Amino acid sequence: MVNQTKDAKLAILGGEKTISHAFKPYNTIGEEEKQAVMQVLDSGVLSQYLGAWHENFYGGPKVRQFEENCQSFWGVKHAVAVNSLTSGLIAAVGALGISPGDEVIVSPWTMCATATAVLHWNAIPVFADIEKDTFNLDPASVEANITPYTKAIIATDIFGHSADMDALMAIAKRYDLKVISDAAQAPGAKYQGRYAGTLAHIGGFSLNYHKHIHTGEGGVMVTDDDDYAERMRLIRNHAEAVVGDKGETNLANMLGYNFRLGEIESALGIEQLKKLPQLVARRQQIANRLRMGLEGLTGLVQPLIRPDCSHAFYVYPMKLETNAPGISRKRIIEALTAEGIQGLSAGYVNLHLLPLYQQKTAYGDKGFPWHSNICHPEVDYHKGICPVAESLHEHEFIGYQMCLHDLSDAEVDLIIAAFDKVWANLEKLQQD
Ligand SMILES: Cc1ncc(COP(=O)(O)O)c(C=O)c1O
Repeated sequence: MVNQTKDAKLAILGGEKTISHAFKPYNTIGEEEKQAVMQVLDSGVLSQYLGAWHENFYGGPKVRQFEENCQSFWGVKHAVAVNSLTSGLIAAVGALGISPGDEVIVSPWTMCATATAVLHWNAIPVFADIEKDTFNLDPASVEANITPYTKAIIATDIFGHSADMDALMAIAKRYDLKVISDAAQAPGAKYQGRYAGTLAHIGGFSLNYHKHIHTGEGGVMVTDDDDYAERMRLIRNHAEAVVGDKGETNLANMLGYNFRLGEIESALGIEQLKKLPQLVARRQQIANRLRMGLEGLTGLVQPLIRPDCSHAFYVYPMKLETNAPGISRKRIIEALTAEGIQGLSAGYVNLHLLPLYQQKTAYGDKGFPWHSNICHPEVDYHKGICPVAESLHEHEFIGYQMCLHDLSDAEVDLIIAAFDKVWANLEKLQQD
């Protein structure tokens, strides 16, 4: 480790790097997964779904086992396995009966699929602003964005901390709205003793390759509502070909897809789910160590964890509030990266500013669904509608990816040492 005094030369200015090795990639796949996959391969049954009203409509043995295990882990009545959370969110919006022209409030700080799941049903995403310290939907902004057309809210638990579900569910009750919890980044996080993802009408988790646990691609939806669960299962598996024989009478959004998770992925999911508590606990340990090491650095704000909540730390989210003139966040991140820190990023996203929303072009080139008689014409995506999210993205936010590497305590200490070194020499970045 290099000398951390003020005299140490920053790596970005030609000095020695604090961290000279590549961190080990985060890899949750072990012998258990290999054996589980081999067992499925030996059985020859890689998927057992049938897109018809038949005993195999609900999938094969591994899918069903995985769903049962998810139900007991998350303490919910139903789990519906899907081939991605993108698919799951589309199924959830459809299951709620959202109709063309309905508005659904979403966060600008989420993955793009949270909002496009709404567009898939020709409904309209409306972006509310975020809280400046949890980066989740701000309930006050949600309420201010409610119109007579609003039917639902999708609350993302960004970076691993639950949205303010009490406040959001109270708003939903007051205005008769449904809530979907996008807990892609928060499996295993808790909100007042209950798992994030389980506090809304429907919740969902991603099992893609970048998450705490994964099946390559995959997702799982959770709900206590029998009707929503069944409607998600129908949308997952060619609803239109099934509803007649099944005797379903509510045909709203019974337009199905192939959102089915295979037997191999489900077998992986069964093993991965067993590891989730320990993987989340390790992220929390790393986060505690980072917090203890970094909290003395002036202007570097450490993550907020609300009382009675736990954070799954998909990202360790920080804010830069230094007033040092002439030193940009970009320059500081470049200096930290030059010291050898891998996995830092500046800003997140502001979905409302994507070309899709700026040009209101989704289906075809005539502006459907916005420029059509199903849409309330004033839906606004201009820069300035989410000032907190926009400012955080442009100026203050620094994220550290926590599911990218398998860090030892010694490596966490090296990261802290790199921050210390850069902070002790900030004025040199300014002079440079
Ligand atoms: C917040 C959020 N929502 C939805 C998704 C979509 O998940 P998937 O990749 O499983 O479709 C992701 C994935 O990155 C996500 O982070």
